[in-house]
Amino acid sequence: MAEAKSNELMERIVSLCKRRGFVFQSSEIYGGINGFWDYGPLGAELKRNVKDQWWRYMTQRREDVAGLDATIIMHPTIWKASGHVDTFSDPMVDCKKCKSRFRADQLDSTPCPMKPSKMVCECDGEKTEARAFNLMFKTYVGPVESEDNVAYLRPETAQAIFVQFKNVLDVSRQKVPFGICQIGKAFRNEINPRNFTFRSREFEQMEVEFFIRPDEVAEKLGGKVAPFVEGMDLSTPQNDWGWEVWHRHWVAERVKWYESIGLSRNTLDFHWQKKEELAHYAKACVDILYQFPFGTQELEGIAARGDFDLSQHQKFSGKSMEYFDEEAKAKYVPHVIEPSAGVDRLVLALICSAYTEDQVPDDKGKMETRIVMRFHPRVAPIKVGVFPLLKNRPELVQKAKEVRDLLRPHMSVFYDESGAIGRRYRRQDEAGTPFGVTIDFDTLGEKPEAKDTVTLRDRDTCQQTRVHISELLPLLLEKVR
Ligand code: GLY
Repeated sequence: MAEAKSNELMERIVSLCKRRGFVFQSSEIYGGINGFWDYGPLGAELKRNVKDQWWRYMTQRREDVAGLDATIIMHPTIWKASGHVDTFSDPMVDCKKCKSRFRADQLDSTPCPMKPSKMVCECDGEKTEARAFNLMFKTYVGPVESEDNVAYLRPETAQAIFVQFKNVLDVSRQKVPFGICQIGKAFRNEINPRNFTFRSREFEQMEVEFFIRPDEVAEKLGGKVAPFVEGMDLSTPQNDWGWEVWHRHWVAERVKWYESIGLSRNTLDFHWQKKEELAHYAKACVDILYQFPFGTQELEGIAARGDFDLSQHQKFSGKSMEYFDEEAKAKYVPHVIEPSAGVDRLVLALICSAYTEDQVPDDKGKMETRIVMRFHPRVAPIKVGVFPLLKNRPELVQKAKEVRDLLRPHMSVFYDESGAIGRRYRRQDEAGTPFGVTIDFDTLGEKPEAKDTVTLRDRDTCQQTRVHISELLPLLLEKVR
C-alpha cells in the first residue's frame, strides 16, 4: 500500500517534470533512448543553479580548493591504473527465453510485496550464469577501429584530478592539505537504468579530491593523530588531523551545503559502508542518502581513498606523485578524501523535496488544490515573476516592464501579463518561483502614500506585502544568493 502511494507520487512528479519542462526523455520523437534524459528550460536553470552553488561553496568560498575542467576522453592507461578496466563491472545475467538482460544482484526470482522493489523477469525463463559486464563506454580515437585506438568515456571525473595533481599544485600555490574540484559529465553503461533520472547512463558529477598528509606525517607534526570525538569542532582544520577526522570534516561540510540549498537534515540519511561494500580503492566510505519516493538512495559518497590513486598513476606513468612538505620536512604521496556527488540525482531529490500539493483560495475565494514546487530561492529556476495587474492598461504594463528590467541583470525573471492574476500566480507556483511582484494602481499613485510600491507575494504562504520599488532588489538579492 505504502509502495503504491510512493509510485503514484513519483508518477505525479514525473508528469509535472514533463508538463512544465524540467525533464524530457532524450530523443523522444524517436521513441527515446533508455537511460538518457534532457533538461528543459526550467530543469536547465535548476541544474545550473545547483552546480553554481556547489562551485561557489566548494572552491570560491574556500582558500584550500582549486578548480579543474578536464576532458571526457583521456589516455586509456588511466583506466588501467585506476582499476576500472579490470574491476569496474556489474554481474549480469541473460534470460535464455525472452533475451532480456538483468543485473544479477537486482533480479528477483521470487517477487514479494514485502521486499524492496527489484527487477522481475516477466517470462521467468531460465537464466545464464552471472558474468562480469564492464560499465565503461568504449570508443575509438581516430579513423582506425583497432585495439590500439580504444578509448573510454570517463566513468568518473576523479581520475582527471589525480593525473593533473602535479600541474595544479605547481600553478595554484596550494600546500597539502588542499583539494581540486571538478564538475563534469561521466558515463556508465548501466545494465538496468531506472528510477527516472536517478540511475542514468550519462550523468554529471561534482567531485573534490582533497589531498591530506598521511597519518604518520600528521602524527609527526601534531605529536599525535587526533581521534574523532563526537561533538568535536570539525570546521577548523588542525595539523594533527588524520584521515578519519578529515573524513568527518567533509561529511559535516557536505551536510551543511545540502541544508543551504533546501534539503533539510531530516530528509537525509547516512550509510557507513561495511568492509565488503567498499570500492577497490576505499579505506572507508559514507554515503549521504535522500529519502526518494522510490526508496532511500545515495546522493553522494564520501570516500577515504588513501594514496591508492596517486600511487597507481605514479606506477603506471613513471612520473613521481610525491610531495615535499616543508612544514613537516617530509616527502610523501598524499592521501585523499573524496566527496563525490551526482548532479542529476541531487536535482531529482530537490524536485521530489519541493513537490507539494496544498489547498488555497482561488480568485473567488473557493478552495482549490494547487501544485507548488517549494524550491529554496538559491536553486529555484526562476527567482521572481513580474506581473502588471491588467494587461490592457499601458501605464501598468510600462511600469511592470521597468521593474522587470531593474531586476533582470541580477536574477532570472519571468514577465507575464496574460490571464487572471490568480492563474499567473499558479503557473509560477508550479515552476517553483519563490517571489511574485505585482504592479497595481497603487503603484501608479492611486493611493498617494503607496506610490512606487508593489506587492511582493511569497510562494509558500501566498502572503503579500507592499514594498517600495527601491527596496526590491536588495531584498530579493539577499534571499536568492
Ligand atoms: N569518484 C567516485 C565515483 O565516481 O563514484
